[in-house]
Parts: sequence; C-alpha cells; structure tokens
Amino acid sequence: MQSGKAVKLCILLWFLFWIPYLSGKDSLAEIYGCFGGWKACAECHDTETKGWQKTRHAVAFESLKKSGQQDLPDCIQCHVVGYDKYGGFLDHELTPELAGVQCENCHGPDKEHIQNPDDGKIIAVPEMELCRKCHTAIQDPGFDYAEKVKFSHGD
Ligand code: HEC
Ligand code: HEC
Ligand code: HEC
Ligand code: HEC
Repeated sequence: MQSGKAVKLCILLWFLFWIPYLSGKDSLAEIYGCFGGWKACAECHDTETKGWQKTRHAVAFESLKKSGQQDLPDCIQCHVVGYDKYGGFLDHELTPELAGVQCENCHGPDKEHIQNPDDGKIIAVPEMELCRKCHTAIQDPGFDYAEKVKFSHGD
C-alpha cells in the first residue's frame, strides 16, 4: 500500500516538473512572477523596444558589472527590474532577463497587460515621481524630467 502511494506521488511530481517547459515559457520570471521582462513586450512593441535598447537604461546592469558591484543590494535596487518585489530580480544567474532598467520600471509590472492588453492596468505615461525613485536628489541632483523623459525609447 505504502509503496503504491509513493509511486503515485513520484508520477505526480514528475508531471509538475515538466509544467514550466510544456507551457512554452522560457524564463523563471515569465513562469512565476508578475514581471515579464523586456522580451515579453518586444513581441508586440517592436519600435519602443528597439529604441529602448539604445538607452543607458538597457545597459544599467552592465555598468555595475564593470566595477564588480553587481551583487551589492545597495546598487542593484536601481539598476534592475522589481528588486525586492514578488517575482522581481533575484540575481544575475536566476533572473538574467530582469537585469537593467526596463519597460516595467516605467510602465509597471505587466504580466496582466501581456495576457490581456485591453485591461487598462498599464502605466501609460510614467510621471516624475516614478523616475525620482531612482533619479533621487542625491543620486542625480540635476535630473530634469521634461528634458529626460523624451529619451525613454531612445532619440
Ligand atoms: C500580446 C501583445 C502585447 C504584449 C505582449 C504587450 N503589449 Fe502593450 N499593448 C498591446 C496593445 C494591443 C496595446 C493597445 C491597447 C489599448 O490601447 O487599449 C498596448 C498598449 C501599451 C501601452 C500604451 C497604453 C496606453 O494606454 O496608451 C503601453 C505603455 C504598453 N502597451 C506597454 C507594454 C509593456 C511594457 C509590455 C511588456 C511588459 C507590453 N506592453 C506587452 C499589446 C501588447
Ligand atoms: C529603476 C530605477 C530607474 C527608474 C525608475 C528610472 N531610471 Fe533613468 N536611469 C536609471 C539608471 C540606473 C541609469 C544609469 C544607467 C547606466 O548608465 O548604467 C539611468 C539613466 C537614465 C538616463 C541617461 C542618463 C542621463 O541622465 O541622461 C536618462 C535620460 C533617464 N535615466 C531618464 C529616466 C526617466 C525620464 C525616468 C522616468 C520616466 C527614469 N529614467 C526612470 C535608473 C532608473
Ligand atoms: C537610488 C538609485 C540608485 C542607487 C542606489 C545606485 N544607482 Fe547607480 N545610477 C542611478 C541613476 C539614476 C543613474 C543615472 C544618473 C547618473 O548618472 O547619476 C546611475 C548611474 C550609474 C552609473 C553610470 C553613470 C556613471 O556615473 O558612469 C554607474 C556605473 C552606477 N550608477 C553604479 C552604481 C553603483 C556601483 C551603485 C552602488 C554603490 C549604484 N550605482 C547605486 C541610480 C542609482
Ligand atoms: C524611462 C521610462 C520608460 C521606459 C524604460 C520605457 N518606456 Fe515606454 N513610455 C514611456 C513614456 C514617458 C511614454 C509616453 C510618452 C511617449 O510616448 O514617449 C511611453 C509610452 C509607451 C508606449 C505607448 C506608445 C507610445 O510610444 O507612445 C508603449 C507601447 C511603450 N511605451 C512601450 C515600452 C516598451 C515595450 C518598453 C521597453 C522595451 C518601454 N516602453 C520602456 C517611458 C518609458
């Protein structure tokens, strides 16, 4: 009897193991989190994605690597997507797709939008306060929202 139960349990676990692969999703963030990562947006917003890729935001994590500070929470928080949030960046090995400042830093966690673009939950135009979470008075004293926001998707 006992071994019968164990066999059933093993079969169940075996199926559960394959769910992420069978679902066709290729990143941990896509499977478990509320953040999709920029690749999930690229499918439908090619122009904005190509523009964003030319910005400093896209390489914000590379900047940390250059000085070997990519593992310091004090630095990571402003250089990745969703640090310290459910389904957000954990580290470069586990969630490489959430490295850098991306679409969802400005437009919000968008898993729901990806599943249903018409649900109206996306942040259409990020306001100054949102930028100021990272472009703080200490970090970026001369930050000029009106001037800088024009470069959100490149020039
Ligand atoms: C399956 C296709 C699809 C995906 C994937 C998708 N979008 Fe959209 N998105 C749309 C469509 C369609 C609209 C227009 C919806 C509307 O106007 O009601 C839209 C509109 C938007 C808007 C403008 C909203 C407004 O009110 O003007 C933003 C910003 C946006 N998407 C950002 C994103 C981001 C960021 C991602 C990735 C996290 C993403 N989208 C992924 C299809 C998609
Ligand atoms: C999650 C944190 C974060 C948010 C939110 C954020 N930024 Fe940034 N931004 C950065 C980081 C980090 C860099 C530097 C990247 C690098 O060079 O490695 C940067 C760089 C920039 C740059 C290029 C450098 C410069 O000063 O000209 C511009 C322009 C910019 N951000 C504009 C904005 C605007 C506008 C908003 C709001 C709509 C915004 N950012 C929101 C973190 C953020
Ligand atoms: C409060 C958010 C925040 C924190 C924390 C933060 N950064 Fe940044 N970082 C920014 C913003 C915003 C910019 C772009 C504006 C600027 O250049 O100051 C930036 C730009 C940079 C740049 C590229 C610009 C340059 O000066 O060459 C590097 C490199 C960088 N940060 C490294 C770090 C390191 C290392 C740490 C940790 C010690 C860190 N950051 C912590 C927000 C932050
Ligand atoms: C620094 C903040 C910032 C980042 C990062 C950012 N956006 Fe935006 N996005 C904006 C702002 C501001 C607007 C509204 C004004 C405009 O259109 O430029 C906007 C508007 C949009 C729109 C509405 C159509 C349009 O162009 O007006 C879409 C779609 C969109 N963004 C998609 C994306 C995608 C996809 C990414 C990532 C590849 C992304 N955004 C990254 C700030 C950002």
